Amino acid sequence: MTVLVTGGAGYIGSHTCVELLNAGHDIVVIDNFSNSHPEALKRVKEITGKTFHTYSIDILDEDGLARIFTEHEITAVIHFAGLKAVGESVSEPLWYYSNNVIGTILLCEVMKRNGVKNLVFSSSATVYGEPDTVPIPENSLLKTTNPYGRTKYMIEEILRDIHFADPEWSIALLRYFNPIGAHESGKIGEAPQGTPNNLLPYISQVAVGKLGELKVYGDDYQTHDGTGVRDYIHVIDLSLGHVKALEKVKSSKGVHTYNLGTGRGYSVLEMVKAFEKASGREISYTILGRRPGDIPVCFADTSKAFEELGWRAEREINKMCEDTWRWQRRNPEGYTSIETEKQTSLEKEPTKFFVTHKQEKVLNE
Ligand code: NAD
Ligand code: UFG
Repeated sequence: MTVLVTGGAGYIGSHTCVELLNAGHDIVVIDNFSNSHPEALKRVKEITGKTFHTYSIDILDEDGLARIFTEHEITAVIHFAGLKAVGESVSEPLWYYSNNVIGTILLCEVMKRNGVKNLVFSSSATVYGEPDTVPIPENSLLKTTNPYGRTKYMIEEILRDIHFADPEWSIALLRYFNPIGAHESGKIGEAPQGTPNNLLPYISQVAVGKLGELKVYGDDYQTHDGTGVRDYIHVIDLSLGHVKALEKVKSSKGVHTYNLGTGRGYSVLEMVKAFEKASGREISYTILGRRPGDIPVCFADTSKAFEELGWRAEREINKMCEDTWRWQRRNPEGYTSIETEKQTSLEKEPTKFFVTHKQEKVLNE
C-alpha cells in the first residue's frame, strides 16, 4: 500500500519510514522541515536502499496537500507532523493549536475529499496528565495539563467525531510514552534544535561533551530513588508499532486506541547509570528542584496493543542507550554538520536544495 507520512523527516517519522519500507510499503513523505532536516530522508534511503517521493509542504497548505493526493494513489496516512515542546506550547498556544489542530483538520478534509479514510495518528501519554494509577490503561481518565497535551486530546476527540459521522473511517490513536534510541546503523536519530528539553538527548549531549552536566529535576518524588520514573521505549519498537497499527486500520474499521510503551518504568538516575554503561563516559549531574508540570511516575499498560496488534516492545534499556550513543557519537551536531555541506552545494547547484515552491519535490533523485 502507499502510505502518506506527514512529518516523515522528524525523529519518529524517519524511523517509521525505514520500517514501512522494510515491510514492503511504498511511502510518500511530506514535511515543512520546521524541526527536521532533509538529510534524515536521504539517510532513510541509504539504510533501506529504497526510494520515495518527498515534498516540502506545510500541512496548513491545503492546496499543496490536495495535489499530493492527485499525484499519488494514497491508501493510508500516518500523521506525525506536529509541534511537540511542552514549554513552548505554554508560551505560544495559538501556534500550537493552529499547527497541530487546524493542520490535522485540513489533512482530514483533504483525505475525505479523496476518499482516503485510513489514518494512524501520533498521540501521546501526555493525554493522561498525572495518572491515578500505574500502569496506565487506555481507558484511564484523560486530563491534560498544557496546550501541547490539549492539542493531542482535541485531535483525538475530533477523530472520534469524524468516525462517528462516517464509520468508513478507520483510525488508530497511538499514545506514545517516552521514545528514545536510534536506528542501529547510527545514521538516523533524534536531533533536537538548541538545548534539549528531554532527558535522553540531554544525557547524550553531556556524554559527548556538548553540555556540561545534567540537571536532575527533583529527588523528592515518591519513587525508589526520589527521581521521576518514565516508560522509555526504543524508537524502532515504536516504529514497528505503527506498521502493526496500519495493518489494523486496514483490516478493521473503527477508532483503535493503543498505548505504545514497554510497561516498565526507569528513574532519571537509573537512566544516567544505563547511559554511563553504554557510553563508557561519566555523566556528571546536579540535583535541582522539581520541573513545573512534571509528574512523578508514568508507565503504560501495554496489554491491549499486545492482544489486538500482536505487538510488544522488544528492545531493553541497554540497547536503547547503546543505539542513542552510537547516533550521538557519530553525529555530535545532529544533521546540522550537513549545513556546511549544504551551503557549499547551494553555491554550486542552487536549485538542488533550495525549495522555491512549496510543492517542489526535494531529494527525489
Ligand atoms: P519531530 O519534531 O522530530 O517530528 C515532527 C515533524 O513534523 C518534523 O519533521 C517537523 O518538521 C514536521 N512538522 C511540524 N509541523 C509541520 C507542519 N505544519 N507541516 C509539515 N510538517 C510539520 O517530533 P517527533 O518526536 O518525531 O514526534 C512526532 C509526533 O509524535 C509529533 O506529533 C509528536 O507530538 C508526537 N509525540 C512525540 C513524542 C516524543 O517524545 N518524541 C511523544 C509523544 C508524541
Ligand atoms: N529530566 C531531568 N532533566 C532533564 C530533562 C528531564 O531530570 O534535563 C527528568 C524529568 O524531570 C522527568 C524525566 O527526566 O522526570 C523525563 O523527562 P522528559 O522531558 O524526557 O520526558 P517527559 O516525560 O517529561 O515528557 C515527554 C515529552 C512529552 C510527552 C511525554 C509522554 O516531552 O511531550 O514524554 O510521551 F507528552
